[in-house]
Amino acid sequence: MSFFRAHYFHRNILPSRQISFLQPPKIALGKSNSHFLRLSQLKSFTKSVSTSSSSLQEGINPIFTAYPFITFFSSLMLTFENGNQPKVEISHSKYLSRSEMIDQLKNIFNPHEDQSFYHIIYGINGIGKSTLVKTASKEVGQGVIYVEIPASVYDLNEAFAKALNMSPNKFTFTNRIARSFLEGSKEPELKQYLEAIKYGAEVYKRKHGKPPVIIYDNVDHLVAKHSKILDLLQNDAKKSADDKKYITVFVSGKNSTFNKMYSNKHIWPHAKKLVMEIGELSKEESMNYLVNKRGIKTIKEGRIDTTEAEKLYELVGGNIRDLSNVADKFNASFEGKFNNNLY
Ligand SMILES: Nc1ncnc2c1ncn2[C@@H]1O[C@H](COP(=O)(O)OP(=O)(O)OP(=O)(O)O)[C@@H](O)[C@H]1O
Ligand SMILES: [Mg+2]
Repeated sequence: MSFFRAHYFHRNILPSRQISFLQPPKIALGKSNSHFLRLSQLKSFTKSVSTSSSSLQEGINPIFTAYPFITFFSSLMLTFENGNQPKVEISHSKYLSRSEMIDQLKNIFNPHEDQSFYHIIYGINGIGKSTLVKTASKEVGQGVIYVEIPASVYDLNEAFAKALNMSPNKFTFTNRIARSFLEGSKEPELKQYLEAIKYGAEVYKRKHGKPPVIIYDNVDHLVAKHSKILDLLQNDAKKSADDKKYITVFVSGKNSTFNKMYSNKHIWPHAKKLVMEIGELSKEESMNYLVNKRGIKTIKEGRIDTTEAEKLYELVGGNIRDLSNVADKFNASFEGKFNNNLY
């Protein structure tokens, strides 16, 4: 650790009695080849990373866990180990299983050792992309990190912090140490998160023999005003694919975003990009959703009548958000809550 860094910790983070904790040679970083040193230190402790925090603690010399940056990396590695398990906010009774799509996504999220592609998942707004991607990434779990790109770029750092299970408050003790550790004080914070992902991915790949997967959902939010950030993420995706470190998956709901990303030959010059398109539900799937998941049916003379569900499908087609909205309205008007004219 450089003098500057120790000084920085001392003045800004640690009370003076704690500064001695930062001195042991095992974790002191020299200026030369610091990248190698850091990785070798990570390697030794992450050999013992396992899926529960108690076994994680067991495998590590307790003295190391006393250091905040070791805690930071053990937490990072746990996130890679388990995946970050994004929440799907649909109740079980209303959830329509789309197993074919889920299987295709699970294939993407389970790359083999030498895979070096980057992916774009495309489908118009409301078609069910996020739900499918989150469900598949939860089912694969291990090695899958889902990042939800927020509507405002000012929330981007928070989104990365959330995805990596770091504290959203960038001024917390651990994150400040981590930021210094990643030598990123001069870099924009986003680059530091990408560095953290790179480190985590290297350790993960060494342990599991396959690259982890990073998913960026809602990349459309970056296109209008912040295409430089999208370029940065695309560059990073290309580099990490070329180096076989991790696989990046971009999820887009706009044709313009898709075209911009796909045809960006400057950044993605070769044919390593794979595209998966998510389409509308078929009539059969839509009817299954309306009738069995949303209860839009009546019993007439002992038989199930699905005329109303059929009318709703004719009205909006197979976009699941539209189907969900129209089912909400229908059920609300049926219950007498609103007097909507649906057709
Ligand atoms: N499998 C499903 N079962 C039940 N409802 C679903 C399912 N998938 C999506 N929905 C409903 O459709 C809505 C839109 O889905 P989702 O957010 O996944 O679409 P999206 O394609 O990601 O949309 P956007 O392009 O706006 O990001 C959800 O909020 C939910 O109400
Ligand atoms: Mg979405």
